[in-house]
Formats: sequence, C-alpha cells, structure tokens
Amino acid sequence: MSVPDSFRAFLATQRDGEVDRGMATLEAGDLPDGEVTMRVQYSSVNYKDALATIPKGQIARISPLVPGIDLAGEVVESSDDALAVGTTALVTGYDLGVAHHGGWAQYARVPAGWALPLPDGLSARQAMTLGTAGFTAGLSIQALEDHGLSPGDGPVLVLGASGGVGSVAVGALAAAGYEVWAATGKAGEHDYLRSIGAHEIVSREETTAEAKRPLERQRWAACVDPVGGAATAYALRTTGYGGAVAVSGLTAGASLKTTVLPFILRSLSLLGIDSVAAPAERRRAVWARLAGDLRPRGLDESIAREVDLDGIEPVLDALLAGGAVGRTVVRVGD
Ligand SMILES: NC(=O)c1ccc[n+]([C@@H]2O[C@H](COP(=O)([O-])OP(=O)(O)OC[C@H]3O[C@@H](n4cnc5c(N)ncnc54)[C@H](OP(=O)(O)O)[C@@H]3O)[C@@H](O)[C@H]2O)c1
Repeated sequence: MSVPDSFRAFLATQRDGEVDRGMATLEAGDLPDGEVTMRVQYSSVNYKDALATIPKGQIARISPLVPGIDLAGEVVESSDDALAVGTTALVTGYDLGVAHHGGWAQYARVPAGWALPLPDGLSARQAMTLGTAGFTAGLSIQALEDHGLSPGDGPVLVLGASGGVGSVAVGALAAAGYEVWAATGKAGEHDYLRSIGAHEIVSREETTAEAKRPLERQRWAACVDPVGGAATAYALRTTGYGGAVAVSGLTAGASLKTTVLPFILRSLSLLGIDSVAAPAERRRAVWARLAGDLRPRGLDESIAREVDLDGIEPVLDALLAGGAVGRTVVRVGD
C-alpha cells in the first residue's frame, strides 16, 4: 500500500505573529523527504507539542507544520534496510513535529534511522501512551540506576507527578519495586496517583517553596524532575547523601537558583536527560525496559486518555495551563 493522493492532518501555520491551527487536507507531495513512509495509527500530545502551536512557543521551526513529536504506525514504503514494509514502528524526537512534519497526520515520512520497530509486548497505542514523555521517564530511571539507584535504597521523589513524564515515572518506578513519593499541585488527583503506584503524596507548595536553608533534611534516595526551576532547587536541598536528581523539564521555569553545597557536602549528582537526540542503542534498551520491567502500572486503564485528530485542540490548552493529567494518545488511523 502506498500513500493516497490526499489525507487528513492537523496543521499549525504561523501568520503575522499568530498561529492558525486546525484540520487540513495534505497531498502525497506535501510529505517531507525520507526513506521510511508510515501510515500513522497513533500519536500523542506532549507539552512540547502544545508549545509548537502557540506564537511564543519557540519550538516550531517550519510553517506550516504538522505537529506531533511522537508517532507509531505501519511502514508502507521503505528503502531503509533495517525496516521492512509491514513493520509496526515508532518514532520520537529528532526533528519530528518541530522542523519535519510529525505524527498528527494520517501519513508521515521520516529519514532512515529515526524509526524503531515496536518493542515486543507493546501495541502502537501503548507505545504512544508512553510516547516522548514515557521515554523520558524511562531515560531518567535508567540514568538514576546507572548512577547506582536500586529498589530498597529509600523513597524516590517524582515531581510534576500527574503530568506525562511524571505519571509514567510514578507507574514505572512502582512497577520496578521502588517506594514512590509523588509531588503534585493537583489536590484532586491524589487517588489517581495512588492508583498508579504512589506510596505518599507531597504538595507542589512544598516542592516549589522559596529556600529557607541551602540544605534540608535528607528525604529521597533520588528524584525524577520534569519540572525544573524552584522544584529542582528543592530536590537538590532534600535528596540524600550520594543521591541524584534526573532533570528533564522546565514547566516551572528554566532558571535554577541553588548553591554548590548539595554537591560538595552531600556528593549529589544532577543528571541531565535529553530524549530528542538520545542514541539509537539507548533508545532500544529503554523502550525494551518500558515494555518489560518498567512497564508502568495503569498504562492502559489510568494513564491513557484518547482523542482523535479533531479532539486535539482542547488538550493543548489544558497542557499549557499545567492542568493535564496522565497522557493523551491521538488515534489517527486504525
Ligand atoms: N528533556 C527531554 O527530552 C524532555 C522530554 C519530554 C518532556 N520534557 C519536558 O518535561 C516537562 C514535562 O513534560 P510533560 O509532557 O510531562 O508535561 P505535562 O504533562 O504538562 O506535565 C507537567 C506537570 O508539571 C506540573 N506543573 C505544571 N506547572 C507547574 C509549575 N508552575 N510548577 C511546578 N509544577 C508544575 C504539573 O503536574 P502536577 O500538577 O502533578 O504538579 C504538570 O502536570 C516539560 O517541560 C517538557 O518540555 C523534556
């Protein structure tokens, strides 16, 4: 099967400092260059996707753009020796949905090397329930374990716990046997967080409070931090001797006000997590773990919400307002 003459897509088009967003019809010739063409089955909505659809988001590098930094579907044309026609594969990161048309369209074409076959045990929908957010949670846990963390070391704090990265981190750490403490600003989501494996809840008020002292009581063996800003400073003040904070995000801000004391008195490490340019071997290994020992609790039941291409718009606004819960998958095809 090849690409039909026309197909449906959600487009973001920059015009006079504004961004028009909505459904459009694309033609086969609108697909970018690449060795692998896919019929998209599922995509997802990430915080970065929401930024790609607003004027000040500083994410979109082409216009018009098909957003969607994640996609999963069937390979329908391929000159990549590693990926045969008929394979179900996933793509996250690189320039997808940023400088190259992404997953919010019925068809996508990507360069060789961007697409990975789905790991055994994950459907296209489950892979997109995880998506970039889940992959980032997996990378964070892997980095903390490479640093020496193991279950039994004590509580692990997850910041922004009800969001995409946070929810998967809570569910995956719980599945792997860790005692997870979930920090959230959403008083109404405590039951949800407990249902996916949170042992205890910490308020966002506490984790973003102004520092009274450069070091506080050592509470965590490690921390998964997709929030940044004041929350990273909190994590550094409260993580225990020899521990680590894996920082991946900036929902609370990009600047970091801290001191060197956690590093020179507690031997703490701040680990940087990037999902966009992660090497292929790391990608394969982490996706295999997400399908296996890190498969999050609540993957199908609690974490996933589903919309189709026409239902994306309200999800973007909720994400930008910090109000999204769990992960939103986008059903694009069947
Ligand atoms: N490094 C990478 O490769 C990579 C990959 C994926 C994502 N990211 C980044 O990671 C961050 C999270 O992404 P996501 O997809 O999980 O987004 P998300 O679903 O919007 O989750 C973010 C969560 O952060 C919390 N939050 C929101 N505003 C906050 C504030 N002002 N102060 C403290 N906490 C706040 C909220 O959780 P609670 O209500 O539970 O507190 C929110 O649900 C984003 O900055 C994203 O760009 C980076």
